[in-house]
Amino acid sequence: MDKKFLHNILDRVIGGAPLSRDDWRWLLSEGAAPDVADLLRSEASRIATENFGKGVFVRGLIEISSYCRNNCNYCGLRCSNREALRYRLTKEEILDCCREGASLGFNTFVLQGGEDVKQDDAWIVDVVRSIKELFPDKAVTLSVGERSVEGYRAMRKAGADRYLLRHETRSDEHYARLHPSTMSAEKRRASLQTLKSLGFQTGSGMMIGSPYQTMENIVDDLMYLDELRPQMIGIGPFIPAKNTPFAQFPAGSVDLTILVVSLLRLRFQKALIPATTALASIDEQGRERAILAGANVVMPNLSPLDVRSKYSIYDGKKSLGSESAQALDELARRLATIGYHIDFGRGDYNEK
Ligand code: 5AD
Ligand code: SF4
Repeated sequence: MDKKFLHNILDRVIGGAPLSRDDWRWLLSEGAAPDVADLLRSEASRIATENFGKGVFVRGLIEISSYCRNNCNYCGLRCSNREALRYRLTKEEILDCCREGASLGFNTFVLQGGEDVKQDDAWIVDVVRSIKELFPDKAVTLSVGERSVEGYRAMRKAGADRYLLRHETRSDEHYARLHPSTMSAEKRRASLQTLKSLGFQTGSGMMIGSPYQTMENIVDDLMYLDELRPQMIGIGPFIPAKNTPFAQFPAGSVDLTILVVSLLRLRFQKALIPATTALASIDEQGRERAILAGANVVMPNLSPLDVRSKYSIYDGKKSLGSESAQALDELARRLATIGYHIDFGRGDYNEK
């Protein structure tokens, strides 16, 4: 491995200089070597600490519906999964979650759900308004799939601050292998542009190791993120879900996910990057490893206890212990073992 080139490319990644497809390719392939991966991780962690100290932002995650009209091949909530357990929360139930979250110290609520036709744009708008009336100072993040431009605009007007919508994969061909033909990568990207232009702090991202994904696909993803410049980037390993077409595929690599987290932190220094539940679910140390690679957000589950197991997008998804909003002390203890603490601030994107 060319040490000189490594330092040259690191300078360019961190400095924001243009990166070619070959550069990204090099980072993904050479970066997999343990000594290079270690160096990238320690640089990423240094940059995260410069920007955020040793604090990790927390978001209370409320899973508002397990109904979904979509049929993504990887997801346990896909509409053709007859075995999936379905529920939808009422507005009052969501407000109760927010009240509990507020008492636990959360300053951001994330409303995440499948594309439930019963929770239409007007319904979401009403829920956002009600949360903002009760808690005007708290941030509301939506993660409710693809909606119309008018819908996004109304949600923003109602006070929603942030929106999460992963692009899933930049490659149109790969996207078509992961989704039914009714969905399109192009439409997804158009939504992301719209969300950004409406002033949402916008989150995107992808799975690592999803079926048929190649290294070139991840290069495409990184180059796309470089162009989109989202304020939040969520990545996690693919994890097979039973009763889906991908049930028999292997899970994505934790090491590769961690490498990509460090590359994201090196490139997007101010971005909000979660240590995702998927990582924590397949690796006992996944959350801590992501934080030590530059992640600075965790999203403990604030959904009502009796629905948590029903929001089963993949098998073995964690929603208890450090992944539970009710166990922040356990999360704090685990963060302390790596020298970090919970930051209870709103954790808005701050370009500074
Ligand atoms: N494994 C890992 N992540 C998944 N997601 C959906 N299904 C899976 C799975 N089987 C991710 C998608 C989606 C987000 C909410 O969860 O990237 O955008
Ligand atoms: Fe629905 Fe989202 Fe699952 Fe796709 S990933 S089936 S849109 S819940």
